[in-house]
Amino acid sequence: MAVHALIPAAGSGRRMGADGNKQYLELGDRPILARTLARLAALTCIDALHVIVPDDERSFCRDQVVDRFGLTKVRSIVAGGVERQDSVRNGLAACGAADDDVILIHDGVRPFFPTAQIAVLAAAAAVEGAAVLAIPAQDTIKEVVAGRVVRTLERGRLWQVQTPQAFRFAVIDEAHRRALAVGFAGTDDAALVEWHGGPVAIVPGSPFNFKLTTPADLALARALLAAGLVEG
Ligand code: CTP
Ligand code: MG
Repeated sequence: MAVHALIPAAGSGRRMGADGNKQYLELGDRPILARTLARLAALTCIDALHVIVPDDERSFCRDQVVDRFGLTKVRSIVAGGVERQDSVRNGLAACGAADDDVILIHDGVRPFFPTAQIAVLAAAAAVEGAAVLAIPAQDTIKEVVAGRVVRTLERGRLWQVQTPQAFRFAVIDEAHRRALAVGFAGTDDAALVEWHGGPVAIVPGSPFNFKLTTPADLALARALLAAGLVEG
């Protein structure tokens, strides 16, 4: 059984509001995407990386990220799609995995994922079909309609889901195919598996594994790194 990591990095970073795409912003001594890829590549449980970027950025990514930082585990640089779900689907089609291989799907802009949990996550996916990193919800979460609270959800049952998310290839490939066929859109990959009835296991994630979405997230990431509070 091989483990393939797909890294979607084909968004346009609208909420970050930077000049270029946020995955190339510097975090410490290297672009965010290079940091994420290097930490994945260092894991012995991962056999190959497949990076998904906008079609017209493939050669830039090869030169400025993959070759520049010696990321030899990167087996392919795949063209992304309009939505993240389209980008992941392109990665699934290009990665060359077998049905029983494990696919890890990890946002290119989450550099501080907990490395010690990745082998646990991959093993859970091999057994269960699907597994995600998650942390218990800390805040009370309310459902709001037209500016008014309609319901307070029971916090003890709520989890904040992160990436990596891991799947047996056959499970996630089938889920993406079915979603495409009927136009179902999920906000993460596990949602597609849940939607057609598959189990998804929970593996403890980390509060440092936040997604760099806004300028505040980037400021926090730089401060954590400078203070030595996260592994580079
Ligand atoms: N992503 C992707 N293909 C898309 C959209 C997003 O591969 N069509 C990737 C992003 O590059 C990012 C991850 O999915 O690594 C999570 O998405 P998000 O944080 O929403 O990034 P962006 O879409 O780039 O940002 P925004 O939504 O603010 O424009
Ligand atoms: Mg987005």
